[in-house]
Amino acid sequence: MSEVVAVAGLTLELGDPSAPLSRRLMNALRSGIRDGRLPAGSALPPSRLLAGELGCSRWAVTEAYGQLVAEGYLSANQGSATRVRDLGAVQTGARSRPIPVEQRPRFDLAPGVPDLAAFPRSRWAESYRRAVLERPTGRLTGSAMIGSLDARTVITDYLRRTRQVLENPTQLNLSTGATAATGWVARLLFATGHRRIAVEDPSWHGLRDAARRVGLELVPIEVDQDGLRVEQLDDHDVRAVIVTPAHQFPTGVALSASRRLALIDWARRVDGTIIEDDYDAEFRYDRRPVASLQGMAPDRVVLVGSVSKTLTSSVGLGWVVLPQQLIMQILAEDLERGAGPSGFVVDAMGTMIKNGWYERHLRSTRTTYRRRRAALLAAIEELLPQCRVTGMPAGLHLVLRLPDGTDVDRVVGAAATHGVGVIGLDRYRLRPVDEPALVLGFGNLRSGRERDAVALLSRAIEQAAGSVSGSAEG
Ligand SMILES: Cc1ncc(COP(=O)(O)O)c(C=O)c1O
Repeated sequence: MSEVVAVAGLTLELGDPSAPLSRRLMNALRSGIRDGRLPAGSALPPSRLLAGELGCSRWAVTEAYGQLVAEGYLSANQGSATRVRDLGAVQTGARSRPIPVEQRPRFDLAPGVPDLAAFPRSRWAESYRRAVLERPTGRLTGSAMIGSLDARTVITDYLRRTRQVLENPTQLNLSTGATAATGWVARLLFATGHRRIAVEDPSWHGLRDAARRVGLELVPIEVDQDGLRVEQLDDHDVRAVIVTPAHQFPTGVALSASRRLALIDWARRVDGTIIEDDYDAEFRYDRRPVASLQGMAPDRVVLVGSVSKTLTSSVGLGWVVLPQQLIMQILAEDLERGAGPSGFVVDAMGTMIKNGWYERHLRSTRTTYRRRRAALLAAIEELLPQCRVTGMPAGLHLVLRLPDGTDVDRVVGAAATHGVGVIGLDRYRLRPVDEPALVLGFGNLRSGRERDAVALLSRAIEQAAGSVSGSAEG
């Protein structure tokens, strides 16, 4: 069912209420522009105003605006409102024509995407070919949530070796990704009486939403330079938490040793569950990867991970390591639902690991990322001396702290007009905090182009600063 609202001078057909509001808003604006209800040159309301009238977070609006700027429907020029661009032929004649590829950001610095050009195509194709040819006919059907014992043993050994995960293969369940696995665990928590779950603020919305979708209320807990502020858990009636201990998303800090112990202590005290999101721990540059929390408290920690950051999310493979007492409950329900990844994918991954191809790929991409990160840092130091970088010892992104008073939305909009896709840190927050910062992903940035991307970003930051002082003067 579609919902039509009149807000801030706009009539918007917001579509399916179960979809995320940013997407509904984006679609509504895009179709308004395409069919001429929002003519070229018309100004959109300021994000704060529209968010207020829609009763949603400001990031939902800035996300929708930013995406449409990146697609070429809107322009965000210095000193003026976000406006509908003159789309010429697209608007008048060719409604369904796809947006030209050139209008996608030339440099996409949105975090979360690994080096897609490095995807080991031939190794993966070979592994997949073997999976198809070798899987016994009797096993060509059914869910791969459990996977063959062989594939599970190989993945278990890998996690034990690289992440010090303590488990035996029967504690490992396979999923299409960390998000799906978190959904299973959240559903189980709900079924066993949990109604609330603590989450880091800021954090990635994918996992939070998986918990929210099953009916759990989110309890935001602050993050500082030592990671989750564990002591705040005691202020709430909550017995479960989602946390990124090895590399907090998006701030990039690691959970300190004393906080790790305090978190485990809390879980034991309240009979609680810790969901450890181990999303990009393979990439650590300044020292050895921080070991998993699961290895310290296998009775309390559920570890979720996937190949989304090491290969690509298109592979669709993740895992969840469960405390012994939770395994059977999860399995019973989800096996019935046929949840789980493709059996071929699971077998192919087993072959990738067994032959050392996966770890070779990790070594080679780690070297690439280390270089790319160094080049990015050097360019920032040279071209953006007014900014500070934090959260860079690991992973595929860093946080660029902008000068106080910077309007992040303007920077994001101006960067998009220069062909640079960036995301403000506040987009990941549940509660607003006044700290202008961008999260810059460098996983999929082409090597050798780091300085070009930063040069364009620097122009966008200057423009945004200019438009703020310009509007203050005017
Ligand atoms: C913080 C965080 N955790 C987990 C994931 C991986 O999710 P999935 O395995 O479902 O692709 C992502 C992907 O963007 C992420 O950013």
